[in-house]
Amino acid sequence: MTEELKYLSGFGNNFQSEAVPGALPQGQNSPQQAPLGLYAEQLSGTAFTVSRPHNLRSWLYRIRPSVMHGEFKPLDSKFIYSRPFDESFCSPNQLRWNPVPLPKQPTDFVDGLITFAGNGGYASIRGSAVHIYAANQSMSDRYFYNADGDFLIVPEQGRLRLNTEFGVIEITPGEIAVIPRGVKYQVSLPDGTARGYICENYGQPFRLPDLGPIGANGLANPRDFLTPEACYEKKEGNFQLTAKFQGRMWNAALSHSPLDVVAWHGNYVPYKYDLSRFNVINSVSFDHPDPSIFTVLSSPSEIAGTANVDFVIFPPRWLVAEKTFRPPYYHRNCMSEYMGLITGVYDAKEEGFVPGGGSLHNQMSAHGPDANTYTKASTAELKPVYLDHTLAFMFESSLVYVPTKFAATSDLRQKDYLDCWKDLPVSY
Ligand SMILES: [Fe+2]
Repeated sequence: MTEELKYLSGFGNNFQSEAVPGALPQGQNSPQQAPLGLYAEQLSGTAFTVSRPHNLRSWLYRIRPSVMHGEFKPLDSKFIYSRPFDESFCSPNQLRWNPVPLPKQPTDFVDGLITFAGNGGYASIRGSAVHIYAANQSMSDRYFYNADGDFLIVPEQGRLRLNTEFGVIEITPGEIAVIPRGVKYQVSLPDGTARGYICENYGQPFRLPDLGPIGANGLANPRDFLTPEACYEKKEGNFQLTAKFQGRMWNAALSHSPLDVVAWHGNYVPYKYDLSRFNVINSVSFDHPDPSIFTVLSSPSEIAGTANVDFVIFPPRWLVAEKTFRPPYYHRNCMSEYMGLITGVYDAKEEGFVPGGGSLHNQMSAHGPDANTYTKASTAELKPVYLDHTLAFMFESSLVYVPTKFAATSDLRQKDYLDCWKDLPVSY
């Protein structure tokens, strides 16, 4: 676990990598015989005909083609799903949850997934879901892929080692990874336990937001996105391939490791990003730019400028705005906001919103700083302040996040959340 992992850098470029010199065909994608006798297999992440700037596909050169597996059979999965989000637990109420406890029974990454909320679905190629994972066991004889959506993984505690078809990605809290739909992988836990958040994106793949007047640089820079170098397993035995397909989990027998890709090239790849590389841009005069200024990745919808889902972070940064109420303003939003906390304290909620927990403010549901925060921030001396020891994030969607039955009825839900605003004084 201590070997140096190698990565290629860049976002949306055409990468190539080979674990064995000469394994990558030169000059064509599917020669009659690929080097070393490997099978050539294309993995398409967009329709063949999507315009060139947004077309995503990779060619994998592997020991066995992916088609070699047993019949898929339904697998009982209690807490993870993306069937239509029509459980009737959606209200305009603001919701907040305590963290999911780490499991007591042996639980791997896949079994440790709990769906908290979602919208749209795999059938409409629109929407996203919010899952929490809490695990205490590495996957050993099991591999996983998700046909329904991409996983954007946001660790809150414990590292994750993602052994993918394309190579190994390791992420620690403060970093994120995106595993595109269809990519097979296995998750191990170098620290023994792990917990975090997942945005499962059913819509258009995440891309970097346009920068407009900001210019060519800023926010997340393409060179800081890392994709793994090829490495492969040549392993035979009794394994399982678990698939998430049409909102349900399925299992098929495998007689070999499916992580047998010796070389690959393309632009449909898993990647990681260190959130501390985010170039934070904010007001240096007065007032508050909207939180969209903190967008790391965006999945666009069919409505121009309106995200299917955005991934937004609130990292350490200088606060220098004059004559300004510096914490997030009170607001109501046509977009729906799920927020989580990776570490520290969020500047609008000093209590109750804790690492591993989450909050949900759906379409037009009012929210903003709690009473204590308001009192302090509206009278604070406005000298430059470095906001440290904080890293919160938001999944912001143009569709309402419908809480699952688990999220709505669990004891983890803070039934007194609304009380955080009850002591706000009458202003006039
Ligand atoms: Fe908000």
